[in-house]
Amino acid sequence: MKLWAAAGVGIAVLAYFASLSNLILITLGAFLAYGIYRYYEFVSRYPKGPFPFPFIGNVTEIDPKVLHKSLERVGKGQSGMYTMFIPHPVVQITDFDVMREAFIENGEAFTGRPQNKIIQEVFSFAPNAGVINSTGEVWREQRRAAVSILRDFGMGKNHMEELVCSSIEDYLIHLDTVADKENIDLRWPIQVMVANVINEVLFGFRYKYDDCQPLMDYVICVNEVTLSPILKRDFPVQMLLGVMKNRGVGIAMAIPAITKIPCIRERTIGKTESRMKEINQYIVDNVTRARRDYNVEDEPTCFVHACKQRMQENNNLDDVNLMTTCSDFFLAGQETTTTTLRWAMLIMAKSQEIQEKLRAEIHAVVGTERLPTMADQVKMPYARACVLELQRFANILGTNVQRTTTQDVIIRGQRIPEGTWVNADIHYVMANDPIFENSDEFRPERYLAVDGSSLRKVGPLKTGAGI
Ligand code: HEM
Repeated sequence: MKLWAAAGVGIAVLAYFASLSNLILITLGAFLAYGIYRYYEFVSRYPKGPFPFPFIGNVTEIDPKVLHKSLERVGKGQSGMYTMFIPHPVVQITDFDVMREAFIENGEAFTGRPQNKIIQEVFSFAPNAGVINSTGEVWREQRRAAVSILRDFGMGKNHMEELVCSSIEDYLIHLDTVADKENIDLRWPIQVMVANVINEVLFGFRYKYDDCQPLMDYVICVNEVTLSPILKRDFPVQMLLGVMKNRGVGIAMAIPAITKIPCIRERTIGKTESRMKEINQYIVDNVTRARRDYNVEDEPTCFVHACKQRMQENNNLDDVNLMTTCSDFFLAGQETTTTTLRWAMLIMAKSQEIQEKLRAEIHAVVGTERLPTMADQVKMPYARACVLELQRFANILGTNVQRTTTQDVIIRGQRIPEGTWVNADIHYVMANDPIFENSDEFRPERYLAVDGSSLRKVGPLKTGAGI
């Protein structure tokens, strides 16, 4: 109020001396100065980062095609936690110990998800529903119900392992049927192998390799939304880049109100919205089929059956949350696992020495007559090191799934206000933490202890050949 009063008196005094046009200019200038003052007052509430400009923040520092690289460049000049204004504030955490302090020691304060209108209305099956984009009590309840149902189905126990093994067997049988062994396309069969596990858990059925068109149609839609065109032509490198690269979507996310104007909505999110509807239709069709064929008195044989049965006693479960959770599992599990396995094929083809070493361990422990089981893990340190290094090196998510703070919280002595977006930048850690020496090399040995035959928990890095 004091500031307004001072500004008012100042303007009155100036009006006495100046002409009307000057007065208008001075008034506008005063408003602008006040707006800038308020903007930097707002900026000062967040952890310090690169200098932002009013309206655009730090947007110019980011190249959405290589988002993770842009953030890496900015992060190198910061101290492990800083704010990027894109243009809304996003706190970036790039240091492993700060991540621990935030997500482990103060975990409760970081359990929110952004309730951005475009994320909720376009990228989610339904607003604030399911497990990935929901927040608060809805997230807690849906997650609790989903975990409990999956546990009943034997998640982490033998049943899930049997499903995975039998899907791998189908995949190997399919590869055997390919006549031209010099030109085997591993890309789409990997997709079917992964989808079959998720399909069977969620909807109770799997695809045949010569009859999987609905799945392929779904995959094409997902790729169009999540992968950038360069990556589609070649090897899918990182997911979510397609979303980031789409400037229309970015603008709509920054100023959701503009999507109320139909022609602007069409130009910004129109294509993505219609692709997302096609993706969702796959889920609607499969949930509807599984529900239709199930009687609640019978033993459930898939996630949808179990949900339908539990809806009778749990008021938090309903059709919208069931559809959204299935969509979340399918989207989160299908593309991530497929992309990781495609990376595995590429990297192993490129690193023949590592492949030989891995094969030797598999032959020694498992032999050639059966598939490996989870029980073999303890005897296969090199295979485990390969999986860990693969996930580090492939780093398939260009950015983490964003969290928001559910209350004001102090991390490393700096306040992060309630409702702030927070990105735990896993790419930065995997590429820059000193624990990963020569991080751009694929080197499973870095995960082995000095004895070379057990997994390394802490301590200095082992060096060795990489690609
Ligand atoms: C290579 C494979 C995978 C990678 C790299 C991956 C990565 C991630 C990441 C980074 C998050 C965000 C975690 C956070 O908010 O802190 C996440 C969340 C999630 N993922 Fe995955 N994921 C993979 C496989 C799967 C699979 C197979 C499924 C299920 C079929 C799945 C379902 C989910 C769900 C439901 C969430 C949200 C959890 C919640 O908010 O409570 N993911 N994943």
